[in-house]
Formats: sequence, structure tokens, C-alpha cells
Amino acid sequence: SRVIRLAVIPGDGIGPEVIAEALKVLDAVVAADPSGVTVEKTHFSLGAARFLETGDVLTDADLASIASHDAILLGAVGGVPGDPRLKDANIERGLLLKLRFSLDHYVNLRPTTIYPGVTSPLSNPGEVDFVVVREGTEGPYVGNGGVIRAGTPHEIANEVSVNTAYGVERVVRFAFELAASRPRKKLTLVHKTNVLVFSGSLWQRTVTAVAADYPDVAVDYLHVDAATIFFVTNPAKFDTIVTDNLFGDILTDLAGAISGGIGLAASGNINPSGAFPSMFEPVHGSAPDIAGQQIADPTAAILSVALLLDQQGMAEAATRVRAAVTTDLADRAARVAAATADSPSADVDAPTARTTAAVGDAIVSQ
Ligand code: NAD
Ligand code: IPM
Ligand code: MN
Repeated sequence: SRVIRLAVIPGDGIGPEVIAEALKVLDAVVAADPSGVTVEKTHFSLGAARFLETGDVLTDADLASIASHDAILLGAVGGVPGDPRLKDANIERGLLLKLRFSLDHYVNLRPTTIYPGVTSPLSNPGEVDFVVVREGTEGPYVGNGGVIRAGTPHEIANEVSVNTAYGVERVVRFAFELAASRPRKKLTLVHKTNVLVFSGSLWQRTVTAVAADYPDVAVDYLHVDAATIFFVTNPAKFDTIVTDNLFGDILTDLAGAISGGIGLAASGNINPSGAFPSMFEPVHGSAPDIAGQQIADPTAAILSVALLLDQQGMAEAATRVRAAVTTDLADRAARVAAATADSPSADVDAPTARTTAAVGDAIVSQ
């Protein structure tokens, strides 16, 4: 039967710690799956640590090898923000964005749910269950910029946001498809059309045009600044959100925070055509402030495995992973309530007295 060839990039900081747990869960759920599918893993040592050792960020050979896999699971890459030794490497651009761009991950899918029992920092969030469809290959991320008269008082630093009709249309269409498949059938475009008039107009016109093909989907629009208000005051109002690369980045860290912690937020960098492998990773970074302590929450990485299983056509296995996570989160809440002495706060990012590995083990044993 089928073999999923998986490229694994644990990366830096807490990356290897959370990926170890994600792989435990993946191995367990695949072994128990009636399909007989197996997973064959190739580990790639990439990231800030590799760069400091060898000077390599992402060699052509590594990229070609990764691209030959069926899917990618990534922990997080990058060092301490501002580390001068990493300035020239620019791991984020040279590795993470290089993978997203080279493998045409134009959909960056970032779901947000407040799981039962999980404490949101919002006192009354309501029933939160939305998905951000973040454009993944364009916008201000493309590196279309440059500096003039660098280091002088007359320095000019340009960073141009690139939005193509082709690129906007394909991600908007994906978002409509997704919205149409969800019970509430609602799509919100988030942009800043009042100021970013050229790209804003393209996004707005594209949404209006594609909407004609999806008469069942209700469409609305919010400026990104106003969207941050509603993320805090009424996040339950959102269903599917489509937005550009940078707005999507910022909104999804906020989404992670309101859902009970960035350690719960999963993502998929998807190439819907299947021409290239899709890449699954937590929304969070390498968290240098807590790395090596076994206190990172592996749930985001584990829920990223669920997205991977969905994309690989193993929806039942994905559902089993989400169910196990749901149970574990409810157990945590119960434990925190029962023994606040166990933990200084009820923050699910600090999973009471459990280590990263203990959380992974608990989810595997559900
Ligand atoms: P970060 O997400 O790594 O950390 C922000 C805060 O969230 C920190 O306090 C951290 O301890 C906490 N946190 C993150 N993940 C957690 C988890 N699983 N459990 C508990 N707490 C968690 O963001 P940052 O500090 O801005 O970035 C650190 C490095 O990671 C930078 O080099 C950045 O460029 C990189 N980064 C990489 C990715 C990626 O590889 N996908 C994503 C974001 C940031
Ligand atoms: C994320 C990260 C990346 C992004 C960085 C590290 C390039 O913040 O995956 O959200 O901005 O996309
Ligand atoms: Mn981010």
C-alpha cells in the first residue's frame, strides 16, 4: 500500500522538541490506520544551527531533495531575533520563504478554534472556529525592494508589495471553495483598501468577480486594523478570512493568542495543485527564550500533523489526532482547575507540570 515520503525539518530552538512529539503522534495514528499507509521519513538538518556550523542555509541539493518528497513537516527555524551572526544568513528568507516560494505554497492555511475547556485571554470569546487563508507567495514578502544611500542620513529603504492578478485570483478562489464547504459559508476579505489603493483594488475586484461563482457564500470586508478589534471583541463572527501575506502573518499570531496560546496554532503551506509537496508547521517560531527546557507546548506541531493527514487524504486519521488533542486540552483544563498549585497560571502554553514529551505521550495514549 501507499508510502508517504515525508521530509522532516526539525529546525532550531523548540523546533526539534515539538517535532519529536508530532512524529510520535504521526507514527501512532498511521500505524493504527486501517489504510495500511506507511510513512518514510527523511530528516534534514537545516536552520540557524546548521548555518553557524557549515555556512549553509539551503543548498540546491537540499531543496531538490525536499521537493522530491510527498509532504514536509517543519518545526521552526531561526535564532534569537537580532543575533548579528545570523544577519547575512537571513534564515527566514533564505530557508523558510525560499521553501514556500520554490514549492509554490500559495495557500497558507491557519485554522483557529477555541477548544472546549481551554482558557482564552478573552473573558467571553463565544464559539470561535475560523480559518485564515493567508496568501503565501506574494505581497511584501517577495523581496522586491532595495536600499539607496544605505547608512547615510538620506537612506531610502523600499519594500514593494507585489500582488499579481494570477496570484490573488488563485488564493481567493481557494478561499471561496473552502468557505463554500463550511457550514456558515461566509468569507471576509481583510485588507487596507483605504490606504493601499492599488493592491486593495485588485483584491477587492477579484473577490467581487469570484463571488459570482459562489452565490451561496456571503462576502464581507474589513480593514485590517478594524479586523484586529473584532478578533478581540467578537472573534466568533469570523468563518473564513482571506488576506495578503503580511496581514495574514500578524492576524494569525493574534488568532493563536486569543485561542489560548500560540502553542496551539497549526498551519499548512499548501500547493493545491499537488505539483509540489505541501509543508506543515506550527505558526510559532523557534522560541529561543524557552528552548531546551522541555516546556514548549507541542500541540501546534501535533495539530499541524492533522492538517498534513487531511491533505494526504487521511481524513479519519486527522480526525483522530484532533479528537486526542481535544481530550488532552480538556484534561489540562481540569487539572489546572483541580490544582492551581501545580502551575503558577492557567496558561495552556505552560502545560502545568508536564514536559513537552509528556504532552506528546498523553496525546498518543488518547
Ligand atoms: P516565537 O513564536 O518563536 O515566540 C514568541 C513567544 O511565544 C515567545 O515568548 C515563546 O516562548 C512563545 N512560544 C512560541 N511557541 C511556543 C510553544 N510551542 N509553547 C509555548 N510558548 C511558545 O516568535 P519570535 O520570538 O518572534 O521568533 C523567534 C525566532 O523564530 C525568530 O528567529 C523568528 O524569525 C523565527 N520564526 C520562525 C518561524 C518558522 O520557522 N515558521 C515562525 C515564526 C518565527
Ligand atoms: C510565520 C513566520 C514567518 C512569516 C517568518 C519567520 C518568515 O512569522 O510563519 O508566521 O512571516 O511568515
Ligand atoms: Mn508569523
